[in-house]
Amino acid sequence: MDYKITPVVKGEKVEFKNPAHAFYDAVGGEEGIKKLMYSFYDKIYESDIAHFFPQDEKEFEAIKVQNTKFFVQICGGPKVYEDEAKGVELNEYMVRLHDEFSIYEKSRIEWLGTMAEALREIKDVDEAILEDFWDYLEKFSKLTVNTYPDGSVYYATI
Ligand code: HEM
Repeated sequence: MDYKITPVVKGEKVEFKNPAHAFYDAVGGEEGIKKLMYSFYDKIYESDIAHFFPQDEKEFEAIKVQNTKFFVQICGGPKVYEDEAKGVELNEYMVRLHDEFSIYEKSRIEWLGTMAEALREIKDVDEAILEDFWDYLEKFSKLTVNTYPDGSVYYATI
């Protein structure tokens, strides 16, 4: 699989759909998602976007936990992130959570590249299922980009 990335276009509406439940099942449910997200965040710490994230070990662990919960729920597993989102739709909540960071397209590409690396470690999952999960990430991540090379800032809405 080639883990294709298409460029973000400032102001353009981003259409996306949540990952199919098939991905959740194929990786082995909550444990599988946890494994993927922990591997991803370990790689983040070796990446060019490491500086965005807390350096304190306990805070870093908390981010891994939160991230795992979000992905469990967005992939159709139990609603373990529900309380965090305080009644706001999950994707909406997640876009706004990123507003406090200055995220460039370059940061998004690094984030996606790191995730692709973690996804390549998953064995025996149908390519179409991986493709569907990637499609969500590739599109949704456009909404987290809020800072542009000309210095302008634009907060995307769903
Ligand atoms: C598909 C795209 C993305 C998804 C689904 C996603 C999801 C998440 C989740 C679930 C969390 C933890 C939320 C919590 O604390 O409850 C988080 C935190 C964070 N994400 Fe993302 N993210 C995405 C893209 C990005 C990108 C492109 C960046 C670029 C740097 C980024 C930077 C961060 C940072 C800095 C934090 C918070 C760390 C902290 O709390 O100190 N994310 N993200």
